[in-house]
Amino acid sequence: MLKNTLIKAATDAAVVLKEHFNTNFKISNKEGMNNLVTEVDHKSEEVIFAVIKESFPDHYILSEETGAIAQDSSYKWIIDPIDGTVNYANGIPICCVSIGIEKDGKMIMGAVYNPFINEFYFAERGQGAYLNDARIYVSNKPRILHSNMVTGFPYTYIDEPNGPLEVFSKLVRRGIPVRRLGSAAMDLCWVAAGRFDGFYEHQLSPWDSAAGFILVEEAGGKVTNLKGDYYNPYQHGIIATNGKIHDELVSICNGGDVIED
Ligand code: IPD
Ligand code: CA
Ligand code: CA
Repeated sequence: MLKNTLIKAATDAAVVLKEHFNTNFKISNKEGMNNLVTEVDHKSEEVIFAVIKESFPDHYILSEETGAIAQDSSYKWIIDPIDGTVNYANGIPICCVSIGIEKDGKMIMGAVYNPFINEFYFAERGQGAYLNDARIYVSNKPRILHSNMVTGFPYTYIDEPNGPLEVFSKLVRRGIPVRRLGSAAMDLCWVAAGRFDGFYEHQLSPWDSAAGFILVEEAGGKVTNLKGDYYNPYQHGIIATNGKIHDELVSICNGGDVIED
C-alpha cells in the first residue's frame, strides 16, 4: 500500500511536469538570486499531496514549497515536486519528482522519476534499488583519479575553506571529469546506477537528497556527511559514492589531495 501510493504520487506528478514542459508557465524568485519556483512546482505538489492524503491522511508531510504539514505520525513523506527547477524552467529535461518516506526517523523508501527520459528509480530498505524494472548497482572504480564525478553548487554561494569551488578545482585540475547536472536527486540516482562513481554537494535540503540517498545505499553505495560521518537528509553536506572511493573523497572534501597512480 505504501509502495503503491509512493509510485502513484511520483507518476501522477510526473504527468504534470510533462504536460507543462516548455509551456508558458509562471516563474517566480525565491531566496537567492536565481533560485526559482514555477507554478508547475506548486501543481506537482498539489497532485502529490492529494495522492498521499487519499491513502494516508494522518502521515506527516515535508515538502519544499509548502514546508511541513505536521502530524503526529511515525511516517514522514519528504517531497521535492520538481528537483532541477532551473533546468525545468529553461526547457532542460534533467529534472524529476523526488519523494522519500521516513519511518521513525529512518528512510525506508524512495522514488525519483524523470519522465522525460523514462527513468523511474525506486528503492525500499533491504530490497535493493531499481531503475524501471531492472536492479541497479553502484560502479566498481577504486580510485578518484579514474572516476566520473558529479556535484552541484548552491544558489547563494558560500566561499569557505574546502568549499564547493575549492573541491571542484582540486578535482578538475587533476583532469578528473566532474559533471554538474542541476538536479541532486538525479545525481544520486546516477551514482546508484553506476554512471557516476561519486557525488558531493555542500548545501542541500532534505527534499533534495531524501529519496536519492536510499537509492545509493540500496545499490550498494555509501552515503555520509562531508566529514565522513553518519548521514541523514537534514544535514546540508553530502558525499555519496560507490563505497570504494569514499574515504578518498571525504579526504579531498576536507583538504586532502587526489591519490596519484
Ligand atoms: C536544486 C538541485 C540542484 C542543487 C541545488 C538544489 P531545486 O534543487 O537539486 O542540483 O545544486 O542545491 O536546490 O531547487 O531544483 O529543487
Ligand atoms: Ca531540489
Ligand atoms: Ca524543487
